[in-house]
Amino acid sequence: MLRRLMFAGYERQLNRAYRRRLASKGSTAQGVFWRSQSSQFARFDTLLALVHQLRGHQPTSIADIGCGYGAMLDFIKASSTFQHIKYQGVDINRAMIAACRQKFPHQTDRFSTGNRPSGIVDFCLFSGTFNLTHSDDPALWNDYIFTCLDRCMAKTRYGLILNLLCTPKAQIQKQIFYANRAAFVQRAEAYFGPTHAQSTRDVPGDVSFVITRKFL
Ligand SMILES: C[S@@+](CC[C@H](N)C(=O)[O-])C[C@H]1O[C@@H](n2cnc3c(N)ncnc32)[C@H](O)[C@@H]1O
Repeated sequence: MLRRLMFAGYERQLNRAYRRRLASKGSTAQGVFWRSQSSQFARFDTLLALVHQLRGHQPTSIADIGCGYGAMLDFIKASSTFQHIKYQGVDINRAMIAACRQKFPHQTDRFSTGNRPSGIVDFCLFSGTFNLTHSDDPALWNDYIFTCLDRCMAKTRYGLILNLLCTPKAQIQKQIFYANRAAFVQRAEAYFGPTHAQSTRDVPGDVSFVITRKFL
């Protein structure tokens, strides 16, 4: 109960921070705290390439959890490799979802406010969703992440694909969470099933994880 309240408090603070940032920087990589569009796109490329490795050219549905202003949909549309991917975007921040709908006025129903997919999808993807935190306790933030992942796994056919910044010891520095790669894999395997980690190409310190259900 206390933890639920703490987690709700984190989300309130996140919502305020992202709303202010979007208002000042607009629908840009900087508007969701990325350093540059190239690091934002390099992350998308790695996550989507992992989907592609698992599913090849079969039609595949994904939910982009923490979709921000919808940049991943732009990336998918511009790429010839990912045309078989059916996209939906979800974000806890209403201002972000309003920005998505403004950006894609003919596809507003692809976007929803919340923290899980609206129906069952093949994969949930998370890019940068858990980097910013208002917690000062890395263990508690890690618990928050697993609570979010668990909720999404319940709506996912095959698995979860996410990125996190990693350092040798889990820590929070200047409101950014850094996971310990091996400990994260170990916990994900214990909670969910086989988990693969790889360094995100062209993004130093960033690691992409694939967490599969035991039967995949
Ligand atoms: C760093 S931004 C990244 C946005 C987008 N993925 C991109 O790369 O452009 C993180 C986004 O995740 C959203 N977010 C944070 N925690 C979330 C959660 N538990 N469920 C859904 N969205 C969340 C935030 O509101 C924010 O829009």
